[in-house]
Amino acid sequence: SAMPLVLGIETSCDETGVGLVRDGQLLGDALASSMDEHARFGGVVPEIAARAHLHALRPMVEHALDRAGVALGDVDAIAVTAGPGLATAVQIGLAAGKAYALALGVPLYGVHHLAGHAAVDVLEHGPLPQRCVALIVSGGHTSLLLLGDLARDPIAHLGDTADDAAGEAFDKVARLLGLPYPGGPAIDRAARTGDPSAVRFPRPLTGPTDPPYRFSFSGLKTAVARHVERHPGPLPVADLAASFQEAVADTLSRKAVAACGDHGVTTLLLVGGVAANSRVRALVAKRCAAAGITLRVPSPRLCTDNGAMIAAVGDLLVHAGATPSRLDLAADPAAVL
Ligand code: KG4
Ligand code: ZN
Repeated sequence: SAMPLVLGIETSCDETGVGLVRDGQLLGDALASSMDEHARFGGVVPEIAARAHLHALRPMVEHALDRAGVALGDVDAIAVTAGPGLATAVQIGLAAGKAYALALGVPLYGVHHLAGHAAVDVLEHGPLPQRCVALIVSGGHTSLLLLGDLARDPIAHLGDTADDAAGEAFDKVARLLGLPYPGGPAIDRAARTGDPSAVRFPRPLTGPTDPPYRFSFSGLKTAVARHVERHPGPLPVADLAASFQEAVADTLSRKAVAACGDHGVTTLLLVGGVAANSRVRALVAKRCAAAGITLRVPSPRLCTDNGAMIAAVGDLLVHAGATPSRLDLAADPAAVL
């Protein structure tokens, strides 16, 4: 094919992801996770994640090439996460990306991890409109972004979290409720049989004088902790999970829909690991429908960290004729937009 083939590499946290994209089409991808190794620590341990990337990266490249039915020599460009993320984890992927680019004699594109979370939707639902708002909610991020052309325009950061990320809140509250790590899926499951109105937990920063796009989840987590302390005896886990989940979904959906309205945007992208949450998805969908906003949500497997999302950005950059990164590109673990 005449269209360039982009190999994407993602290693910013605990997932080793590789994806192959050509002209907006996902040809194949592969994913390894070191999540099981972190579970007993209750959070991702950077050194363990970095070692796991080192072991998994080459096999994942091979798997992705196999699944796509292409050879390494067919690759025309490398896209790799340059940040934000865990420093040692980002560096493994970046070093590998540089090595592949150098060995193959193809351009290297350093990619912002959050741009990847947004761009991945193109692979399933086609090109994005000229402008949209993205709500990126994961274990590391809770950000409302205003997006133009992902390959050309800077991403405007409307607001993020003042403390914990939404996924982090799910993980910490799960721990309080005695649910396994990662907490998001566990709370989602437990909440199915619970009453979301059992406890009215706070909706942080949603008052009329609060910053409209800013989030805060540590107070909500503390509210759950206080509730648990004050009510000794067997925990009503399902009710507490459902009530907490409702507070998060209410807050996220309100702010995201308001951001669209305020900026005259009619498309909302909901991405990141927490976008896999059934109540978050349902409430955001309901409020978007009521406000005349088109909601775009990637399928759950592309909502969490993966290599296809990085290849998707690389594909947009290649098609836009963007200038490649230099081979001495530094990792930017604390990258901001
Ligand atoms: O995007 P992601 O895979 O990794 C980054 O943090 O970048 O997101 C992981 C986060 C974890 O905190 C996990 O608990 C949360 O996403 N998560 C969920 C669900 N599935 C994953 N949170 C709520 N409900 C879910 N169903
Ligand atoms: Zn992520």
